[in-house]
Amino acid sequence: MLNDADRIYQNLYGQQDWQLSGARARGDWNATVEILARGRDAIIEEVKASGMRGRGGAGFPTGMKWSFMPKQSDGRPSYLVVNADESEPGTCKDRDIIRHEPHKLIEGCLIAGFAMGAHTAFIYIRGEYYNEAARLQAAIEEAYAAGLLGKNAAGSDWDFDLVLHRGAGAYICGEESALLESLEGKKGMPRMKPPFPAAMGLYGCPTTVNNVESIAGIPTVLRRGAAWFAALGRPKNTGTKIFCISGHVNRPCNVEEELGIPLKDLIEKHAGGVRGGWDNLQAVIPGGASMPILNKEMCETQLMDFDSLAAVRSGLGSGAIIVMDKSADVVKAIWRLSKFFKHESCGQCTPCREGTGWMMRMMDRIVQGKASMADIALMEQVTTQVAGHTICAFGDAAAWPIQGLMRAFRPLVEQRATDYKPPQPLAQAAE
Ligand code: NAI
Ligand code: SF4
Repeated sequence: MLNDADRIYQNLYGQQDWQLSGARARGDWNATVEILARGRDAIIEEVKASGMRGRGGAGFPTGMKWSFMPKQSDGRPSYLVVNADESEPGTCKDRDIIRHEPHKLIEGCLIAGFAMGAHTAFIYIRGEYYNEAARLQAAIEEAYAAGLLGKNAAGSDWDFDLVLHRGAGAYICGEESALLESLEGKKGMPRMKPPFPAAMGLYGCPTTVNNVESIAGIPTVLRRGAAWFAALGRPKNTGTKIFCISGHVNRPCNVEEELGIPLKDLIEKHAGGVRGGWDNLQAVIPGGASMPILNKEMCETQLMDFDSLAAVRSGLGSGAIIVMDKSADVVKAIWRLSKFFKHESCGQCTPCREGTGWMMRMMDRIVQGKASMADIALMEQVTTQVAGHTICAFGDAAAWPIQGLMRAFRPLVEQRATDYKPPQPLAQAAE
């Protein structure tokens, strides 16, 4: 288990003061000017050396992403955009960072913005996080009042403004290019990539979009050093990560742990174990709604990092672990997700717009015991026509849960087609 001293987040559970005074007592904003004095290139190199991979879900190397930003301005301003749209079902880590450690995020914005030559950063927060937005705004105002933001931010000679923008509750606005569209005041529809945001992002200018947890971790990485971060976790999967454990566990929680921790340890040691004991476990969705489900056998030895989960054709995603015991109807759970994806598709590209409807309707029939084996085969075929054939990763996200269900629970799904006993109407039951 992670030592307390190695935790980035000392106030994840909000037991201490979230305001500037409390944050300073925990070491935030300590000698920020000296970090900035190292210079842009040195900061980016340090982040690269730490091996940090993006904490939003895709796991793209953070330092490498920053290095795509232009070194010299061509007349266009550069922007940092922080993705606080946290909408992946099961995910609630950025929310706790924002409400209990907002100054880590604000300081991270200044350091990251400076390293990428940005004088302005936007934090795009999901509309439903009303209280969190209010708290973050209060923390931003404290930082301005203390001279940590604005002209000559933190005494660095670098002018830096931070703007909080509230979204309006669309899941797709968490996709980075849809988020940029929404920030520009347009309908949140993903853009084709390339060009990636570093070449053409917000208002057509060089932009980096990073997740809250990535940015909030940056000041600590730079204070303790890349070697400290790189020594935690596993090769190519370094550092700590906040896992969100929910579902049929005795103590649902958010917990910061090293990447690569066994899934079983996370559930047993941090979440009080599966309801009814480990033997009562049926399934786990390991990385938020879009990541393929694992059956109990797969969970026994599974390590929780990007590459270990990719190796079993699932993913770490946002680190949201949804636990289901034997009382759960896993087929119905995945049907519910397919309904969610159908509802949230932006409808811009045909395979996703049509395919999510098809997948949901086929899952609907399976759940009701009205599907044939041919229907199941057809549904699998539809998932392959959606995944990898759409403008953004949403198409994959919609298809993968069903593909995962078929890999991990095929007999259960097929049983619904071959051996389903529909509920008897009352009159018939009485005969
Ligand atoms: P992606 O792999 O397309 O991109 C990841 C990041 O790397 C982006 O910022 C992208 O611009 C950058 N990038 C990728 N290839 C690049 C290249 N060749 N050159 C320059 N930059 C490059 O993944 P995406 O669509 O951004 O994210 C998908 C993930 O988001 C999923 O794995 C899912 O887990 C996660 N997700 C998280 C949510 C949350 O609430 N935290 C909600 C929904 C999805
Ligand atoms: Fe929109 Fe879906 Fe296409 Fe993404 S994959 S752009 S959500 S229609």
